[in-house]
Amino acid sequence: MIVSRAHADDLDAVMELEASGFDHGRWSRESWAGELSAADRQVLAYRDADGRLVAVATLQLVDDFGDLLRVVVAPERRGQGIGRKLLMASILMAQAAGAVRILLEVEEDNAPALSVYRRLGFSAIDRRRDYYGPGLHALVMELPIESRSYSPGSPVEVAS
Ligand SMILES: CC(C)(COP(=O)(O)OP(=O)(O)OC[C@H]1O[C@@H](n2cnc3c(N)ncnc32)[C@H](O)[C@@H]1OP(=O)(O)O)[C@@H](O)C(=O)NCCC(=O)NCCS
Repeated sequence: MIVSRAHADDLDAVMELEASGFDHGRWSRESWAGELSAADRQVLAYRDADGRLVAVATLQLVDDFGDLLRVVVAPERRGQGIGRKLLMASILMAQAAGAVRILLEVEEDNAPALSVYRRLGFSAIDRRRDYYGPGLHALVMELPIESRSYSPGSPVEVAS
């Protein structure tokens, strides 16, 4: 599996993924354009052999931690380990950049996302009521990575 950085010209494809991934709380085009251009963001993409963008994940590097802000995989490619491997690459890159822990917020009934995060070693450290709107609660999850070594199971290469 080859992961590369996403760039500004991926914006249209990223917006298609965004629309396919969320039915509320969707990020705007401006938000994603900001992600793709901000210096403190690490936006990684997984593409099929024909170059089609299949998954994207963005992480903000803040001091010594990484804040995992978004991950989305094309609906027809979910359940194939792409989300887990893309996040593994993102975590390894954050670790290489000096992060000692990764934080994220996730809707507490997002079972597929929770499954991926737990498999990667994240655990819940807090719960925020109504974080995404009335009745939509969030879990705050943390993954310490200071001395952790990851074994992806299959090769993950990060191209420039
Ligand atoms: C969350 C998401 C990125 C996962 O990507 P993915 O490529 O399907 O992830 P993986 O294939 O690596 O793993 C999927 C896991 O979810 C589990 N899963 C799938 N559907 C599930 C369901 N309905 N209930 C519970 N678990 C489910 C799978 O069993 C698998 O877990 P396992 O590896 O322990 O068996 C993807 O579902 C997605 O894009 N969702 C919409 C956007 C989103 O919610 N993003 C997260 C918040 S930003």
